[in-house]
Amino acid sequence: MTQPSESHAIATQPQAIDAPLTASAAFLVLTVGTDDAAIATARSVLASTGDLIKDIRIRLSSGLFSCNVGIGHRVWGPLTGQPAPLELKPFQEIKGATHTAVSTSGDLLYHIRAEKMDVIIEFEKILLEAFGDAVTPVDDVAGFRYFDGRDLLEFVDGTANPDGLDLPADTIVGAEDPAHAGGSYVVIQKYLHDLAAWRAQTVETQQAIIGRTKFDNVELPDATEGQKAHKTLCTIEDADGEHDILRDNMPFAVPGSGVYGTYFIGYSRRLWVIEKMLERMFIGDPPPLHDRILDYSRAVTGVTFFAPSRGFLSALGD
Ligand code: HEM
Repeated sequence: MTQPSESHAIATQPQAIDAPLTASAAFLVLTVGTDDAAIATARSVLASTGDLIKDIRIRLSSGLFSCNVGIGHRVWGPLTGQPAPLELKPFQEIKGATHTAVSTSGDLLYHIRAEKMDVIIEFEKILLEAFGDAVTPVDDVAGFRYFDGRDLLEFVDGTANPDGLDLPADTIVGAEDPAHAGGSYVVIQKYLHDLAAWRAQTVETQQAIIGRTKFDNVELPDATEGQKAHKTLCTIEDADGEHDILRDNMPFAVPGSGVYGTYFIGYSRRLWVIEKMLERMFIGDPPPLHDRILDYSRAVTGVTFFAPSRGFLSALGD
């Protein structure tokens, strides 16, 4: 017989937030129709997420496949019928003196990871067929692993991610919001790079902007005053210590159209930590010394979601 502690653990089991980075990924952002039929269909497809994942996984002879679903603030109430997670709200635009973190539309996020793109496309095809006209895709970006896990600015990306027991501690909501334990806040932003301008900088300048060496990925000392590096601006500390997030960024590109970008995705137990990072990047610390990565990278989307536990998702079908 299942013990109460075991059934709590099963109900609050997180989605595959801790899945490893793969060679391919897709970031599918959808809006949901407002009529009752659209909401009912979307709720039923969300509830069957676990089954749809199993349907694909069994067909793979080998290789990883994972999919995390996030739900945005606008549709949280209608879709779930439950109070929203404590911190969930729409992505707040952040307007710095020079650069803006824009807020764009999106009700559902599917973050799909696999070693090969065929599996991802197959999953998206089945998923979108199930949704039918209940949803409208607003963005669908295919990411790929670039040499050594680098971004298209050619720096290794993801090094400082939490691991071991720090990973769930930094990414998964716990007793502070019991109704949403096992969930995770997710923020996405699509960045487009000006590669010609970036390449015109010396490697020393690029390294000072990122805060790590380019070839061998060694961390550089933090500047204590004046212009700070990206990695310093994104280090959030308070009386409780350092607050990390998990980033599963992927490069994407359409070389024939001159499109080169980084799809930023951050998972966090606390939404305010990602918001603080963005504030320090776009407004600067101290203002107006914004993150110089933004002089070569323009944010064209920005959406916040909450990826509930597996139990919460499947209960939507009850
Ligand atoms: C153009 C978009 C971005 C690019 C190309 C980028 C790239 C990088 C690179 C190369 C590093 C150093 C290696 C590592 O630790 O991963 C880094 C660190 C980091 N980035 Fe970004 N990043 C981008 C946007 C963001 C955004 C929007 C956030 C948060 C809202 C963020 C948060 C972080 C954090 C937390 C670290 C680790 C800091 C530490 O050393 O503790 N990044 N990023």
